[in-house]
Amino acid sequence: MLVEGKIALVTGAGRGIGRAIALALARHGADVVINDVLAETAEAAAEEVRPLGRRALAAPGNITDPKQCKEMIERAVTEFSRLDILVNNAGITRDQLIVGMKDEDWDLVLNVNLKGAFNCIRAALRPMSRQRFGRIINIASVVGIMGNVGQANYAASKGGLIALTKTVAREMASRNITCNAVAPGFIQTDMTASLKPEIKEAVIKQVPLGRMGLAEEVAGCVLFLASDLAAYVTGHVLVVDGGMAM
Ligand SMILES: NC(=O)c1ccc[n+]([C@@H]2O[C@H](COP(=O)([O-])OP(=O)(O)OC[C@H]3O[C@@H](n4cnc5c(N)ncnc54)[C@H](O)[C@@H]3O)[C@@H](O)[C@H]2O)c1
Repeated sequence: MLVEGKIALVTGAGRGIGRAIALALARHGADVVINDVLAETAEAAAEEVRPLGRRALAAPGNITDPKQCKEMIERAVTEFSRLDILVNNAGITRDQLIVGMKDEDWDLVLNVNLKGAFNCIRAALRPMSRQRFGRIINIASVVGIMGNVGQANYAASKGGLIALTKTVAREMASRNITCNAVAPGFIQTDMTASLKPEIKEAVIKQVPLGRMGLAEEVAGCVLFLASDLAAYVTGHVLVVDGGMAM
């Protein structure tokens, strides 16, 4: 029970890594607010949490809209009295080589992956500052450290998210709010399911552990950073990639 009695909000938690994070936090004693832009998946994930004996609130909404983020966090605080843990997980890809990348695809990926996290962080800092406690975990990517062909927009958004993480860590440390990033490598989810088998094989060859990671393996690291075990860790980027980026 690493986060017993804590209140957590996870964005993009209707499926994939976000869903696994919400379930891991609930298994370790947290009540969870489950955000997703797809309302039905948010509700379905909340339904999975409740049998674990924890409270779950589905909070559908688009994190690119600052107003929706503010309302969602206010709703969470009204419902559960506080907000201890924010996991900025929602993210998208729109891959293309730079020469062919459309403005809309650059803007959309930056808006969801970077501005969306900023919107949620800004709104969450109010209750967290009041409480003088907070754990913010941003789901970045090894691509934000290494760069990647065909992912200029995605890599820039995740690199930006890492810089945002370190800035929040510095600004909010005096309020006992920590902010860390988790940078997954190549993880089995819907996001990577559509990649061609030959691309998957080529990527797996670069992974010393010789396989893709599981959403639960990312969730375990988020759980650690959300728990008291990581009370003295802030501004850190925890790479979860089977050794790929070292
Ligand atoms: N799968 C990987 O290999 C991998 C690797 C590194 C980092 N990541 C990161 O992990 C996070 C989760 O990825 P995943 O593989 O689970 O992806 P996924 O596509 O399976 O899930 C993403 C979820 O975010 C939701 N979402 C998208 N836009 C949103 C918005 N504007 N507002 C609210 N919710 C929104 C989607 O509906 C979906 O449920 C992302 O930030 C991704 O960039 C994934």
